Amino acid sequence: MPEKKLKFNSKTIHGGQSPDKAYGAVMPPIYQTSTYAQTTPGGHQGYEYSRSANPTRTALENSLASIENGAYGLAFGSGLAAIDAVMKLLNPGDEVVSTNDLYGGSYRIFKQIFEKYGITFHFIGMQDADVIESYINENTRLLWVETPTNPMMKVIDIKAVADLAKKHDILLAVDNTFATPYLQTPLDMGADIVMHSATKYLGGHSDVVVGALVVKDKALADKLYFIQNASGAVCGPMDSFLTLRGIKTLHVRMQRHCENGRAVAEYLEKHPKIDKVFWPGFESHPNHEIAKAQMKDFGGMVSFIPKSRTEKDAVKIIEKFKVFTLAESLGGVESLAGHPASMTHASIPKEEREKSGVVDSLIRLSVGIEDVEDLIGDLEQAIG
Ligand SMILES: Cc1ncc(COP(=O)(O)O)c(C=O)c1O
Repeated sequence: MPEKKLKFNSKTIHGGQSPDKAYGAVMPPIYQTSTYAQTTPGGHQGYEYSRSANPTRTALENSLASIENGAYGLAFGSGLAAIDAVMKLLNPGDEVVSTNDLYGGSYRIFKQIFEKYGITFHFIGMQDADVIESYINENTRLLWVETPTNPMMKVIDIKAVADLAKKHDILLAVDNTFATPYLQTPLDMGADIVMHSATKYLGGHSDVVVGALVVKDKALADKLYFIQNASGAVCGPMDSFLTLRGIKTLHVRMQRHCENGRAVAEYLEKHPKIDKVFWPGFESHPNHEIAKAQMKDFGGMVSFIPKSRTEKDAVKIIEKFKVFTLAESLGGVESLAGHPASMTHASIPKEEREKSGVVDSLIRLSVGIEDVEDLIGDLEQAIG
């Protein structure tokens, strides 16, 4: 069947893949090599040096392009390396309008690395297209969207932002780490670039650090491939293999993440010792209608604030968890709990972070795919 006709669940397994040419291996071998024999200068079989390309990484890149409904995939040594490559499309004097409630490391690379090179960033709430438009001027080259946002679970209307990007002839990049293409495919909604920390749901087993970009446009892909090779932040063949293996079960894992996420959010919402729960599946969530329209389900990420709204109580709950593990990261099969103010978002100044709602008493859960009764039981004993 032609690749384009495959549905999503089939694409995670077969998208962009074919049996290995040498022996018909169904999974691509881990081509643990830096270089490739040539018969005469330039006489090679498509691979010269593994920074430029490696067959295991190519298999992953083809899979990424397929599941995101793009044409070109690029894999990097981390999500931040992928972001770094996008920023290198820009020149001094260029401006970027970005979500204000975003992963702390993304904020850090924008502010502390790229501002130094003369790029200006505007961090704003992106719920309202008119507000975004008021920050666009003749120097604006890129809109950077993270949705759902990390960790406040706000949902940004990708199509509305894409229309704005088209109107002003600027690029739109969407960090699709939280949602994954199981829930939404931003390229289909008009985005130019999809970015992933594949470390999270795509890898899915907390055993790799990998980043990804997917685009449709050949000229843009060529620029990014040039940066990928010239800057060299690629992932190795073993990590490519593990990420590809993870992608093959993305759909079944995401289905369970969503089911468990819903059960956990609903449990917390009714708990007398919980003040506020952030999950886009609630009808009362301010962006619920957009979430319903652009996402297939609401994901496995849930944030909440205890009734006392004190950091001390939040930390007490986190320390008591037995099934949830206190750790950085998200999107693995195991449930994780985090304290954004001191962990993932510590690199954002307190004042800036609190403006977007990331207060010291906020707890973020990455709800895994364990039996949901065990997760609810763990919350029950920890919250008390
Ligand atoms: C939404 C989001 N984007 C980007 C990143 C950065 O990815 P990595 O840690 O793979 O560099 C993360 C990491 O936590 C993330 O959560």
